Amino acid sequence: MKRLLILALAALLLRPALAAERIDPARADPAQVNPAADVAAMTAYFQKKFPHVPPADFVNGPYAMDAGMRAQWQQIMQFPPYQFALDHGKDLFATAFPNGRHYADCLPRGGIGIAAAYPRFDAKTGRVVTLEIAVNRCRVANGLAKLKLTTGDMADLMAYLTDRSRGQPIAVVVPDDPRALAAYQRGKAYFYSRRGQLNFSCASCHVQGAGQHLRGDVLAPARGLIAAFPIYRSDWGSMGTVVRRFIGCNEQVRVVPERPDSADYRDLEYFLAYMNNGLPVAGPGTRP
Ligand code: HEC
Repeated sequence: MKRLLILALAALLLRPALAAERIDPARADPAQVNPAADVAAMTAYFQKKFPHVPPADFVNGPYAMDAGMRAQWQQIMQFPPYQFALDHGKDLFATAFPNGRHYADCLPRGGIGIAAAYPRFDAKTGRVVTLEIAVNRCRVANGLAKLKLTTGDMADLMAYLTDRSRGQPIAVVVPDDPRALAAYQRGKAYFYSRRGQLNFSCASCHVQGAGQHLRGDVLAPARGLIAAFPIYRSDWGSMGTVVRRFIGCNEQVRVVPERPDSADYRDLEYFLAYMNNGLPVAGPGTRP
């Protein structure tokens, strides 16, 4: 109940900022889907809103917004809390499947240095494939069960694969295919649509509210929002993938979360990853 009140209060506080909303895809003409223009507008919006944040620093989310939090983070990073997951993910990646094959045999470029290009649009199925889903496809093709998409071994594998791409410029592609453009547009619409009892959109907190304090947190901007995933989050006491965070953010505004492999979450991740284009891969990361 107390949480609900705090959120309702936050809703009221954030409301005045809504008039200043500039990025409103809900009003966009679907025939004019223009991802490149969107990311340029998003980048300009945050650069103007936070002129003192160096462009590449947006990958650091709350730490880019708040000097106190940044100092704590630098302390924590002397012994990165994701290190165990990274080591475990490396082992998992190197371990042969019962049929003798490896993850490296069924991911592009042996899985090394590919994270910056995910999610990808799969022209064969017409669907968005996240790196997690690509890993599960690889498992199924080799007779193994799928892994849970949110945490555990999957998050550890992501820690390794992301680490092998660290620093590379994020370069998600929306090909000139009406199905890819539609997936991107649906992801964008999901991000900006208000839902749930509290009538929040993702953008309410991560565009209009970015940089503001909410309970003990500082709201991370949409530009760079998923660049440091997977993350070790102290609040979880474990690693989590992007989808784990989507579920958490849905729940905190009392929206029933989607299934982790849902089309909604895939499209949402596609849009958000595209909004990170040009920033360096910064995962695995750590968050409070
Ligand atoms: C009521 C405000 C609120 C709403 C609405 C909200 N979030 Fe969040 N979100 C937070 C808070 C608080 C955090 C933790 C602090 C931070 O990193 O921003 C967070 C963190 C995140 C992070 C991790 C950022 C990082 O740097 O670690 C992602 C990704 C994210 N949210 C995505 C979403 C998506 C997608 C939606 C819509 C489905 C959404 N959020 C809706 C409050 C919100």
